[in-house]
Amino acid sequence: MFAVANWTVTSKRLLSGVMSAETWLPTELPEYARGFMYMLGSLTASSFAVLVASGIVLAMNGPASWSYNGAVHFVAATHFWAVQAFFFFMMLHLWRVFFTGAWRGGRGLTWLLGAIALLVAIPTAFTGFLINGDLYSQWNAVQAKDGLNALGLGWVNLTNAGQMFGMHVVVLPLTLTVIIGLHITLVRMKSVVPPYPEADTPALARGDDA
Ligand code: HEM
Repeated sequence: MFAVANWTVTSKRLLSGVMSAETWLPTELPEYARGFMYMLGSLTASSFAVLVASGIVLAMNGPASWSYNGAVHFVAATHFWAVQAFFFFMMLHLWRVFFTGAWRGGRGLTWLLGAIALLVAIPTAFTGFLINGDLYSQWNAVQAKDGLNALGLGWVNLTNAGQMFGMHVVVLPLTLTVIIGLHITLVRMKSVVPPYPEADTPALARGDDA
């Protein structure tokens, strides 16, 4: 007789779903998922990839490099526009998943991870504004520090450029990468939610002759 190692069984089941070729290389797409509205999540993820790539170049060159090096300035501008695209597509994606009720059919955790990604994306962007170092970012840092102090979160020192640099280039983007990775893994495992069933429309509302 063997004792059943439950955690092994559970992990095996989970890993075989995560690692299967069918999960990552599907050959068929549901008809309803062919529209542009269903591309918005991928556009968000693509903007995030551009953000990370341009951010790595900026971090390697140092926080002030874009003010004296034209090539790095171009990368900084790319980073800035990638943020605009990231939030723009994320909000449109949020509308799409809201109006198609995409939490249905056991997709609650996918929804929750998306919501957490949004909540983590906000301080990621904000700490980016803070390490600009111009008067605007200094003013923001001081005002927000007052707010955090009032909440008892004084250890987050927004006027400490080193702490904000670490948060913006390491802690928050890595956290976001993990969350987005899990979010997309769940989408791949559970597939895209089917549309709501069509409601029975009364003849009068359809505009039919009485
Ligand atoms: C970091 C930002 C995000 C990225 C990169 C992202 C990425 C994606 C991708 C690639 C998909 C596949 C389907 C599609 O593209 O429409 C998807 C689906 C989904 N996302 Fe997001 N997402 C993000 C934020 C959010 C937010 C804020 C929510 C909601 C609070 C959310 C909830 C969902 C749900 C529930 C699905 C499943 C869709 C379905 O089954 O129809 N996501 N996401």
